[in-house]
Amino acid sequence: MTAKVIERLLHEKSILVTAGAGGVGKTTTAAAVGLLAALETRRKVLVLTVDPARRLADAMGMANFGNVVTKVDLTAMAHQGAHGELYAAMLDTKASWDELVSRYAPNMRVRQEILANPIYANISSRFVQSHDYIAMESLYDIYNRGEFDLIVVDTPPSRNAIDFLDAPERMADFFSSKLLRWITAPYRSRLVSTAFKPFYQVADRILGSQFLAEVAEFFMLFQSMYEGFINRANAVSGLLRSDACAFLVVASPEYVPMREAEYFLGALKDRSLNLGALVVNRSLPDFLNDPLAIQAARSFVADPAKTAQGKFKGADSKVLSSVLSEIGQTYLDFAGLYAEEKSLLATLSIDRAKVVRAPYLETDVADLGALARIGYNLDPVKFP
Ligand SMILES: Nc1ncnc2c1ncn2[C@@H]1O[C@H](COP(=O)(O)OP(=O)(O)O)[C@@H](O)[C@H]1O
Ligand SMILES: [Mg+2]
Repeated sequence: MTAKVIERLLHEKSILVTAGAGGVGKTTTAAAVGLLAALETRRKVLVLTVDPARRLADAMGMANFGNVVTKVDLTAMAHQGAHGELYAAMLDTKASWDELVSRYAPNMRVRQEILANPIYANISSRFVQSHDYIAMESLYDIYNRGEFDLIVVDTPPSRNAIDFLDAPERMADFFSSKLLRWITAPYRSRLVSTAFKPFYQVADRILGSQFLAEVAEFFMLFQSMYEGFINRANAVSGLLRSDACAFLVVASPEYVPMREAEYFLGALKDRSLNLGALVVNRSLPDFLNDPLAIQAARSFVADPAKTAQGKFKGADSKVLSSVLSEIGQTYLDFAGLYAEEKSLLATLSIDRAKVVRAPYLETDVADLGALARIGYNLDPVKFP
């Protein structure tokens, strides 16, 4: 049974953002939640992903570049419901930056100069934080166009998973920073220019001639977009904090990822961002806690010969005993892991109604069927 908390989010929110450490299943969860929303509600849903595995991207029919939104064919899922519509897009950082510059450049000339500036090319395609910012920025843009009822956003694989939360604000800070003014100063004023000339000459020699000139030119050009940018960055922050938006923190049930999740939950709270749910991905199934099964497994281990007695006619009793004790021990090992998982979860300070689990699939999650299995099995976590 899909957890109540998830059902409500699917119906009530306009934006869901998956967040968490690298590799825990953010992209998978975003796609699974988006699919579930399209199957179970009548909403028009967009999954905006960042780094889907090739096969997942193929399964959803996503184009590789250029921020193209494609409709996902749900014909094969008709038996599941498919009341709504699902669209998918892969975020193209470079294209998004170019669109942003085009929007805020005061005129054609500045626009072209920025797009041609080598520093700009570097920042927009490589600078990690630029991915963070542009993901939030693109979200804001799509949200305001109002074409979708629900946008499920995947977040970039940041060095620090918290970074993107602060990206809009950092962008605003950056544009009003002293550093920016300092770098561009010599180019703005003759007087300072003379005073700093030796510094720039040395810097040019170390960093390569032209480097600082290009940096300065870039920032001067960028400053012409200053106001548009700051207003925009603040608006993006506001949207993330609004009631329309909730975060899905994704974690896997091991010690380190769980501590990271805890840190993340705190970071959301500090920033007044809404926690929608904590998704414990690759979580072990509840049947590992079945008292009768545990009892049976113990008896397999303790006395396999007795357990097997009279049950498997013609079997070699030695082989049978070792198979049974092996099975029993494996079950008990998993039951132990299950208990550890639960005690890790119990240490989190979180509203337990918001904790859901996603099953560990034997196969990679790379088609709609597997995504649906994850989506439909976002169950409430049972606390002991
Ligand atoms: N519940 C799951 N069961 C099985 N495989 C999973 C599960 N969740 C994620 N995976 C696989 O793990 C890999 C990493 O998942 P992904 O969603 O890309 O992580 P992230 O976006 O957090 O880096 C992918 O190959 C994905 O198919
Ligand atoms: Mg990812």
